[in-house]
Amino acid sequence: MAPKVLVSDKLSETAVQIFRDRGIEVDFDPSIGKDKDKLLSVIDQYDGLAIRSATKATEKIINAASNLKVIGRAGIGVDNIDRAAASKKGVIVMNTPFGNMITTAEHAIAMMFAVARQIPEASASTHAGKWEKSKFMGVELTGKTLGVIGAGNIGGIVCERALGLKMKVVAYDPFLSQERAEKLGVQKVDLDELLARADFITLHVPKTEQTSNILNAEAIAKMKPGVRVINCARGGLVDEVALAEALKSGHVAGAAFDVFEVEPATDSPLFNLPNVVCTPHLGAATTEAQENVAVQVAEQMSDYLLTGA
Ligand code: MLT
Repeated sequence: MAPKVLVSDKLSETAVQIFRDRGIEVDFDPSIGKDKDKLLSVIDQYDGLAIRSATKATEKIINAASNLKVIGRAGIGVDNIDRAAASKKGVIVMNTPFGNMITTAEHAIAMMFAVARQIPEASASTHAGKWEKSKFMGVELTGKTLGVIGAGNIGGIVCERALGLKMKVVAYDPFLSQERAEKLGVQKVDLDELLARADFITLHVPKTEQTSNILNAEAIAKMKPGVRVINCARGGLVDEVALAEALKSGHVAGAAFDVFEVEPATDSPLFNLPNVVCTPHLGAATTEAQENVAVQVAEQMSDYLLTGA
């Protein structure tokens, strides 16, 4: 019997076609991702579950999934999957670490420009017919120091792009070798040095026990006055309350956040502060990246379901 896959999030239809072409039966219903009761009631029919971020593969869902062999996350973060529960049941969890890295790095760079030149506020003001030319004085990126926390796949691309913009780049990453730092053209530093030197700080690490609130009140106090902070990685890496205080005091000049402690974020201490640019977790939201991750996850899951490889 052909394996059966449920696609319960908005994945590119190319993924559905790949499953079909490989002889896998597939149900595509993105409404299920937001309906945990429905997911719970149907999950035992499937050998594979393909998701993005809306579906929460909780312990309850995984335990009810008597036929499930693989959960494929079209994207990088697997924080919406209970990996301990999956591993206990022998369910493989796979992601697509490379499909959206360029897109996410580009979003971080876009957010850096947006906060440096107050583009969203200036745009809203111009749309309102105000023409407030003297209100929106920005800063140049050229010659400024960018502090990159996490210089892996996405952080590494951000480093390269920032160097292309003639910025100086310092990177804090315990896993970054001296050799790779030299190859990237960045200076490897410890966190305190990065905080003291950076004019812009951007985060590119997963949220783990070690990185949770890595930018807390104490770290923020060590930052250079006038710094701007960009987070397109994961909510909870920066203490939003402490950052809001530092923005209000002027110690931090601006922030650009794509990710929030609680998502979907309907409220945050950062909302409605001047020079805080916010987007709704759009890091991976380009046509190209969504196509890449959909293709990759469908191919990986098909390989696993059909050959066990
Ligand atoms: C990811 O982990 O791949 C990104 O955060 C994208 C997303 O969740 O939509």
